Amino acid sequence: MSDLNPTVAELVERSNRLGADPKNTNYAGGNTSAKGTETDPVTGEDVELVWVKGSGGDLGTLAPAGLAVLRLDRMRALVDVYPGIEREDEMVAAFDYCLHGKGGAAPSIDTAMHGLVDAKHVDHLHPDSGIAIATAADGEELTATIFGDQVVWVPWRRPGFQLGLDIAEIKEKNPQARGCVLGGHGITAWGDTSAEAEANSLWIIETAASYIEEHSKAEPFGPALEGYAPLPEAERRAKAAALAPTVRGIASADRPMVGHFTDTEEVLDFLAHAEHPRLGALGTSCPDHFLRTKVKPLVLDLPSDASVEDSIARLQELAVSYREDYQAYYDRNATPDSPAIRGKDPLIVLVPGVGMFSFGKDKQTARVAGEFYVNAINVMRGAEGLSSYAPIDEAEKFRIEYWALEEAKLQRMPKPKPLATRVALVTGAASGIGLATARKLAAEGAAVVIADLSLEKAQAAAAEIGSTDVAVGVQVDVSDAAAVQAAVDATVLAFGGVDLVVNNAGLSLSRSLLETTEKDWDLQHDVMAKGSFLVAQAAARAMIAQGMGGDIVYISSKNSIFAGPNNVAYGAAKADQAHQVRLLAAELGEHGIKVNGVNPDGVVQGSGIFASGWGANRAAVYGVEEQDLGKFYAQRTILKREVLPDNIANAVYVLCSAELSHTTGLHIPVDAGVAAAFLR
Ligand SMILES: NC(=O)c1ccc[n+]([C@@H]2O[C@H](COP(=O)([O-])OP(=O)(O)OC[C@H]3O[C@@H](n4cnc5c(N)ncnc54)[C@H](O)[C@@H]3O)[C@@H](O)[C@H]2O)c1
Ligand SMILES: [Zn+2]
Repeated sequence: MSDLNPTVAELVERSNRLGADPKNTNYAGGNTSAKGTETDPVTGEDVELVWVKGSGGDLGTLAPAGLAVLRLDRMRALVDVYPGIEREDEMVAAFDYCLHGKGGAAPSIDTAMHGLVDAKHVDHLHPDSGIAIATAADGEELTATIFGDQVVWVPWRRPGFQLGLDIAEIKEKNPQARGCVLGGHGITAWGDTSAEAEANSLWIIETAASYIEEHSKAEPFGPALEGYAPLPEAERRAKAAALAPTVRGIASADRPMVGHFTDTEEVLDFLAHAEHPRLGALGTSCPDHFLRTKVKPLVLDLPSDASVEDSIARLQELAVSYREDYQAYYDRNATPDSPAIRGKDPLIVLVPGVGMFSFGKDKQTARVAGEFYVNAINVMRGAEGLSSYAPIDEAEKFRIEYWALEEAKLQRMPKPKPLATRVALVTGAASGIGLATARKLAAEGAAVVIADLSLEKAQAAAAEIGSTDVAVGVQVDVSDAAAVQAAVDATVLAFGGVDLVVNNAGLSLSRSLLETTEKDWDLQHDVMAKGSFLVAQAAARAMIAQGMGGDIVYISSKNSIFAGPNNVAYGAAKADQAHQVRLLAAELGEHGIKVNGVNPDGVVQGSGIFASGWGANRAAVYGVEEQDLGKFYAQRTILKREVLPDNIANAVYVLCSAELSHTTGLHIPVDAGVAAAFLR
C-alpha cells in the first residue's frame, strides 16, 4: 500500500490522544473508527471503507496495523441477514466476509456499533466518569439532567450486533445528539469530522466528571471507619510484604499467578470508609472488567492494625468461602453449553490500611487487573456520590465472563513459556554468570529480580532485559541479614512472591594459606557461605508461606570439590555452599522446594571476578597471558571448549524446568569436562 490514507492517519492520532489519558478509557478498553474511501485495486473505482480498532489493542498505542478494515457496503448488508439477538454472536464470524484486502487486525465485537452508526467518526470509550453515570441506579434520569438532549441513554445490553443496531437507531432518531451513555457499560460519541468526534467524546467525559464533582455527596463511601485508616507508608509496605506470599498462595490455588501490589490513595481511601464491604460485594461493572478482576474481590474484614498472624488466618478462611461462593455463582448461572469453570480463586485481594494485591498470568496482566479495580473504585465513588451504584446483574456478568467468544479468544492465546508465572531472584546478577542467568530465566518467561551491591547497576541490567513488568533491579549485600530480607520483600512486592532463587553473588581472592588474611577469609565466607544461607532462609520462608514449591540453585564451583592452587578461602567457601545444597535439599523437600547446584569452571567472559585481579592472578599461577586464560582453561578440559556464562545459565534453567521436576540435591558440572572434578 502506498501512502497512509489521511482518514487513517487522523484516526490513529485521535485514538492515541484519547488513549493517552486514563480518564478517557481503561487500558485496552474502548475502540474508535472512521469511514472513508480508497481506490479498489481490483476495479479502480472508489470503495467505501470503515477502519475500526481491532480486537484487544490499546488506543494509547494504536498503530495503523491495529485497525480492522472492512467494506462498508458489505458490513451494512449484514443487517439483512441478521438472524436476531439469539444468534447475534454469529455476526462476528460474518465480519470476515466484509474485510477489505487482508483486512488488517481481527474485527472486535464492537465493529457493528462503528459500522452501523451513521456518522463518519465514532468513539466508544470506558471513562470512569461516564461509567459512573452508566452504573448509577437512576442513570437514565441523570443522563437527561446532565446532558439534556445532547446525550441519549441506551439501556444495558451486552456488546454485539444488536447493541450496534440500537445505537444506530438512536442516532437516527436524535439528530441533535452528540453521543450516548450505554447503561452499565460506557459511552459512545460521534462526529462528522475526526475533530468533532473527539471534542464530543471529551465533552461527555468532562461534563460528567464536573457534574459529579459539583453534585457528589461529601462522603460517597460513607463515614470514615474507625481503625481502617491507612497505616504509615513503611508499616504498610512491611505488612504487605509479610502478607504477600500467603495472598499469592491463595490466588494460585487453581493455577499459579503473578502478583502486583499497589497502595495507591484511591484504594486506601476506599478501604478506610464504611461502605466498602457492601460496594466490594456488588463487584465491578464494565464488561471489560470481569475477565480481569473476576466479579468481585476478596476483602479482608480486619482493621489496619490487625497482626500479620491474625490477617493470614482470616485470609485463609475467607479464601475458602470465596471459592465456595464462586463455585455457587458458576453453578447458578452456567448452562450446558457454558465453558468450564476457569478457577475459583480471587484476582483482587483488598487489605484495609495496606492496599491491593492483583493477579494475572503475568505481571502486565496482574498490573492491569489492579488498574481496572482502581477504575471500578472511581466508578463506584461517582455513582454513590450522585445516587447509588447499581452494576448489571449477576446473570449478565456471568454471560460476559463465560461468553463463548471470550472463551475462543482465550483458547487462541499462545502457549505460555516454560517459566511463565515463576518469579526469580538472582543475586549478583548485574554481571557475568548472574546476568546471563537472569537473561535466560526472563527469556523463558520468568519475572526476574536482579539483586546486586550497586542499585544503579542492578537497575541498568534489569532495564536491558525489559520493562519493570519483566525485570526489576534491587540493592542487596547478601552478607547482611536485614538487607537480604529487604531484597526478598522487594521481590514479593514487585511480583507477588518468589519461586526461584539463584545464589550466585560471589567474589574470589586467590591466596595461599600463608597469605590469606582473616579479613580475606571472612569476606569470602560472608558473601558466599553466609550470604547464600541468608538468602535461602529468607526466600524459603516466603516459599513455604506460598505453598507453591520452589527452586533454589547454588552457583558453587568446580573448586568446591577440587583442591585448586592458592584457594583455601574461596574453595572452602564454595565447599560450604555445595554442602548447603544437600542439607537444604533434604530439609525443604517436604515443601516441594528443590535445591540444586551448578559447578562452573573457567568462565572468563563477562566475569567481574576475572577482570578484577583473579584472572591476572590465575594467569600468573598457570604461567599464561591473561588474555589467553579462556583458551588455556579450554585446553585443559576434556571437551576442549571454553565455558561461557550462557552455558551456566542454561544449566540453571534446566534444573528449574519441568523436565527436572524430580531432581533435588544434584550438582551439574558445567566445566567442559574436568576429570579431577568428576562427582562421585
Ligand atoms: N567465573 C567463573 O569461572 C566461576 C567459576 C566457578 C564459580 N563461579 C561463581 O559464579 C558466581 C558469579 O561469578 P562471576 O564470574 O559471574 O563474577 P562477577 O564478578 O562477574 O559477578 C559477581 C556479582 O556478584 C556481586 N556481589 C559480590 N558481592 C556481593 C554481595 N555481598 N552482595 C550482593 N552481590 C554481590 C558482584 O557485584 C557481581 O556483580 C560466583 O559465585 C562465583 O564464585 C564463577
Ligand atoms: Zn465497551
